[in-house]
Amino acid sequence: MDEEIEKGRKAYLKHMEGSVAAFAPGRIEFLGNHLDYNGGMVLGAAIDAGIYVLASPRRDKVLRLFSESFEGEVVETSLDQFRKIEGKGSWANYCLGVLKAMQERGLAPSSGFSLTFVSNLPVSAGLSSSAALELATGLALAQLADREVGLEELAGICREAENEFVGMPCGILDQASSALGRPDHLVLIDCRNESFSTLPLPPRTALWIIDSGIKHDLVDSHYSARHAECGEALRLVKEAGSKSACLAECREEEIDQTDLSPNLRKRALHVTREQERVLTFRDGLLSNRDLEELGRLLTDSHWSSSRDFENSCPELDFLVERLAESDEVLGARLTGGGFGGAVLAWTTSAFRRKEAEAIAGSYKEEYDALPSVHSFSPSRGARIEDWPPLALEKGA
Ligand code: GLA
Repeated sequence: MDEEIEKGRKAYLKHMEGSVAAFAPGRIEFLGNHLDYNGGMVLGAAIDAGIYVLASPRRDKVLRLFSESFEGEVVETSLDQFRKIEGKGSWANYCLGVLKAMQERGLAPSSGFSLTFVSNLPVSAGLSSSAALELATGLALAQLADREVGLEELAGICREAENEFVGMPCGILDQASSALGRPDHLVLIDCRNESFSTLPLPPRTALWIIDSGIKHDLVDSHYSARHAECGEALRLVKEAGSKSACLAECREEEIDQTDLSPNLRKRALHVTREQERVLTFRDGLLSNRDLEELGRLLTDSHWSSSRDFENSCPELDFLVERLAESDEVLGARLTGGGFGGAVLAWTTSAFRRKEAEAIAGSYKEEYDALPSVHSFSPSRGARIEDWPPLALEKGA
């Protein structure tokens, strides 16, 4: 029997020859809400959960994409004729968009391939499974094409894929955090210059995600509406004489001096004040400022999102209020695009799951639905993985 297994293992490895693998993590938006596409500085973190991809080359032009985690359907198309998928199977657009952007740069394989994805990211919890899918795909395709691509460049390619192929006008926060994460560090992203660095997260603190599970159908269109409002506010502020290149750079006086509608004024004030908070946080971290003071910036960020950017909802506000009552919570805020989704709590390491679950329980009493609770560690960003996995190679 052992001999048969050994034969099978060898045959399998031969059949899978040329296969490669990669992993890309989910991300947490730590601070800097809706600043990325406004040219601001934002703080993100890659987490210890994400998407693993196994990629095998084919001799024909067929593209075969599969994941049990996304609809459990095989998406099949071809290298010469793929286009954006509507409806079922549309998760594959993140991969096809990356393929297209890589083709344009001569970084994509010239024959077909199969991609199989495995994910341990909680679904729709605002942890950007889309960026993880894009980056894992990008690393796999570059290997199949025998090309090298740096992670900063790849983050830009993946953002382009999402903007142009998928049609979501996001900034670079998700892709850069997933690409450039480092254990126990935050990724500081200067979105205007697309320059990246990392900052150590203070020891004995922890990151918790409480996911409300609320997903509004209109999230994408609400997001695009905010994107457009910010663009319009910038246009008017510039028309009134500001020399700022982007909204995050505008000063509050410039906004005050511009004739803006009440809504545009609130959006612009959120952006400029949020930018101040990120810079204060960064400087405070570097000068060892009191953690409670730093944490307060996160909670202030939430109320600015809620009142001025208006991308929160009563359920997220409820969670932030409850979390802020705990002595061990340094700060709490909605994380990601908003309009539902998840809340981040930055806590001391004395904060316990029991306490997080009690808050989830009080939410259930109020809203009759139980949010899910997760804790994550800031982790290493996207990377090539070994293929074959050690166990297969050794025949373990
Ligand atoms: C989503 C987008 C990001 C960013 C955040 C809000 O996660 O994908 O680019 O704009 O929303 O800060």
